[in-house]
Amino acid sequence: MLTLFEYFGPRYARLDAGLLATDLSMKALNKAAKGVYTTAQVQAIPPVLRERYFRQLDEHQYAVLPALRAEVVFRKFNLMAARYPFKKPFHIIFCRNVMIYFDALTRRKLVQKLYDFTSPSGYLFSGHAETIEREDRRYEYVRPAVYRKSL
Ligand SMILES: C[S@@+](CC[C@H](N)C(=O)[O-])C[C@H]1O[C@@H](n2cnc3c(N)ncnc32)[C@H](O)[C@@H]1O
Repeated sequence: MLTLFEYFGPRYARLDAGLLATDLSMKALNKAAKGVYTTAQVQAIPPVLRERYFRQLDEHQYAVLPALRAEVVFRKFNLMAARYPFKKPFHIIFCRNVMIYFDALTRRKLVQKLYDFTSPSGYLFSGHAETIEREDRRYEYVRPAVYRKSL
């Protein structure tokens, strides 16, 4: 969201954009929805952006600004679902550090389903330890952990 806000600036308000954040675990979703991060977690964010988009709560914690948080919808969703309920494809899918839990066949099927819900020219970002082999994907390889669907 931060990147979208930075890139589009005031034009963002005119877009039908947003972010759907899913997980199987309600605990993980509730934690994410709070939007509170430790100092260590926000360390890698350039200070100018940290000041623009976060409020320091105390010595150890930062909270993301409500305007950013409001653009994210949090939903429980099982990536193993036989059918995905999404109405529209996504321009970018981040599926990071989840495939590591699945066996090769399950991973292949998951990547196929993600592909079906990626817009033409859209991207899939995986975790760095989750290389998707050529035979398991229709995405084009862009660089490590980045894949693209062709037009
Ligand atoms: C290692 S964490 C990674 C979280 C986040 N993607 C990241 O990179 O920081 C793995 C997450 O995958 C979720 N998960 C495991 N199996 C899942 C499934 N079948 N469907 C959806 N989420 C799942 C877990 O609940 C956990 O929150």
